[in-house]
Amino acid sequence: MLRLAPALIFAYLATSAVAADDDFTPPNCSLDEHCPEKYPCCSVYGQCGTGAYCLGGCDPLMSYSLDSCAPMPICQSKTYKWDNLDNAATNNEYLGNATESDWVYSGYPELEDGNLLLTMPKNSVGSLFANNHYVWYGKIGANIKSSRGKGVVTAFILLSDTKDEIDYEWVGADLSQVETNWYFQGILDWTNGDASKVDSGNTFEEWHHYEIDWSPEELKWNIDGKTVRTLTKESTFNETSNRYEYPQTPSRMQMSLWPAGQASNAQGTIEWAGGEIDWDHEDIKTKGYYYATYGEVTVECYDPPSGTNIEGDVSYDFKDDRGIEASVEITDNKTVLASLGATGLDMDLGSNSTSNNNNNNSNSTGTITNNSTVPPNLGGTGGQSGSGSSSTGTGEETTSTNAPGTFNQGTDTSSEDDENAAASPNERVLRGSFFAVLVAIVVLITL
Ligand SMILES: *[C@@H]1O[C@H](CO)[C@@H](O)[C@H](O)[C@H]1NC(C)=O
Ligand SMILES: *[C@@H]1O[C@H](CO)[C@@H](O)[C@H](O)[C@H]1NC(C)=O
Ligand SMILES: *[C@@H]1O[C@H](CO)[C@@H](O)[C@H](O)[C@H]1NC(C)=O
Ligand SMILES: *[C@@H]1O[C@H](CO)[C@@H](O)[C@H](O)[C@H]1NC(C)=O
Ligand SMILES: *[C@@H]1O[C@H](CO)[C@@H](O)[C@H](O)[C@H]1NC(C)=O
Ligand SMILES: *[C@@H]1O[C@H](CO)[C@@H](O)[C@H](O)[C@H]1NC(C)=O
Ligand SMILES: *[C@@H]1O[C@H](CO)[C@@H](O)[C@H](O)[C@H]1NC(C)=O
Ligand SMILES: *[C@@H]1O[C@H](CO)[C@@H](O)[C@H](O)[C@H]1NC(C)=O
Ligand SMILES: *[C@@H]1O[C@H](CO)[C@@H](O)[C@H](O)[C@H]1NC(C)=O
Repeated sequence: MLRLAPALIFAYLATSAVAADDDFTPPNCSLDEHCPEKYPCCSVYGQCGTGAYCLGGCDPLMSYSLDSCAPMPICQSKTYKWDNLDNAATNNEYLGNATESDWVYSGYPELEDGNLLLTMPKNSVGSLFANNHYVWYGKIGANIKSSRGKGVVTAFILLSDTKDEIDYEWVGADLSQVETNWYFQGILDWTNGDASKVDSGNTFEEWHHYEIDWSPEELKWNIDGKTVRTLTKESTFNETSNRYEYPQTPSRMQMSLWPAGQASNAQGTIEWAGGEIDWDHEDIKTKGYYYATYGEVTVECYDPPSGTNIEGDVSYDFKDDRGIEASVEITDNKTVLASLGATGLDMDLGSNSTSNNNNNNSNSTGTITNNSTVPPNLGGTGGQSGSGSSSTGTGEETTSTNAPGTFNQGTDTSSEDDENAAASPNERVLRGSFFAVLVAIVVLITL
């Protein structure tokens, strides 16, 4: 049943044409099944396409070839304030010019008192704000007041296109703490998750400064200037695979609010999130939405690792398919696509019809018009948590098993501070980007 509230029209438009005349379904992609040449880019949603699919989140290891994804805009030290959203584009407008648009977003951001609110109106899938300048080691920090309410999750993370990930996540059912987590290439490891108490114990009411300090040798989570957790690269060496399984590839800073406790989610996910979302919560009643509040956000870039092949200062790209630090080089290759039909393989394709594509494709998400694909508007679900590579994609609680290898299961959060927090199979939680996307699609379709 389709019911259109004005605020949801965008989301509706984003999915309507999936069932419309084109009846094109984007091919799925995974490490084992790369995208075809015509739709060469594997998006963060695990679907093949062109245009936006080739920008942030495009996984070169699952795409047609390493150069299918557009090169990634290089790190830029910067402080972001929230007087306006002039430097933010929606995910079907942005074509890779990070100078023009520092941010790409989906969902329902609002400005209030000089802060950014990521909101989640009733029955929506929340909001996602992703920075378009990649960070390849650096310090990111933000003043944040989390959302509240069971089932509602706020995030502040770094996520690479090959699914290295560094997280802060606030689960609205417990405002006394924040969860920290990390992944290497989306590989699931139950011992990676942890949680830190936050001083004075109410992450919704009080501002705190959350920082991720990420260098080639060491990763620190700092809250209000105090280091609450440290991960050394040294400690992540895996003798079997003979590599450091440490987050090490250029990553985008992302902020989001998403409905982990959506009723249609797997039970484990809902439990992790503290229970099903109450859509009659006081925040919905008084403000019209759940919300997380972000104040000033800063990015300080560190030097690239020694030994990096540096041939310019515009972009990062992958020169081999190991997806590790040594696979990354810095060049002058441009990052901007000419149209929603262009790809890393032909960045100038359709240079005359860009605006037409934008306008005329706006109701055909996930469908193809003149070879162009337009990304779905999936609210806050675009960047959550490491998607397991196919080797680890076991989502036992999921209903679809031929997912594009991007399941992830989170940590058991019932034990707060011991590293023995490895969950038993029954307690395992399925969250992760692909799962979240499935949820989002279900939610949108049933609106
Ligand atoms: C980027 O530029 C370098 C030269 O600086 C070139 O060797 C490389 O193939 C280019 N990569 C992509 C993905 O365009
Ligand atoms: C990106 O946008 C900036 C600011 O609008 C503009 O000056 C620049 O020419 C654009 N770059 C490309 C490659 O389109
Ligand atoms: C080390 O790598 C092997 C091979 O990829 C993998 O099976 C194993 O789970 C890894 N060990 C840890 C502790 O991650
Ligand atoms: C596309 O652009 C090129 C050069 O910018 C121009 O020569 C050509 O006529 C344009 N084609 C159309 C259909 O506008
Ligand atoms: C969009 O398509 C319509 C026909 O479907 C056309 O009349 C219109 O000019 C197009 N919009 C743009 C901006 O080209
Ligand atoms: C939206 O999609 C429908 C069904 O595909 C199509 O008939 C209609 O012309 C489209 N509208 C625009 C503005 O492109
Ligand atoms: C559509 O894709 C084909 C290759 O599959 C390509 O030859 C053609 O130029 C593309 N057309 C447009 C308008 O992008
Ligand atoms: C896009 O494709 C439609 C039919 O598929 C065609 O009528 C239209 O002319 C094409 N537009 C461009 C710019 O190629
Ligand atoms: C892609 O994966 C989804 C979820 O498993 C499945 O429903 C869909 O049919 C797949 N699409 C294709 C084209 O294989």
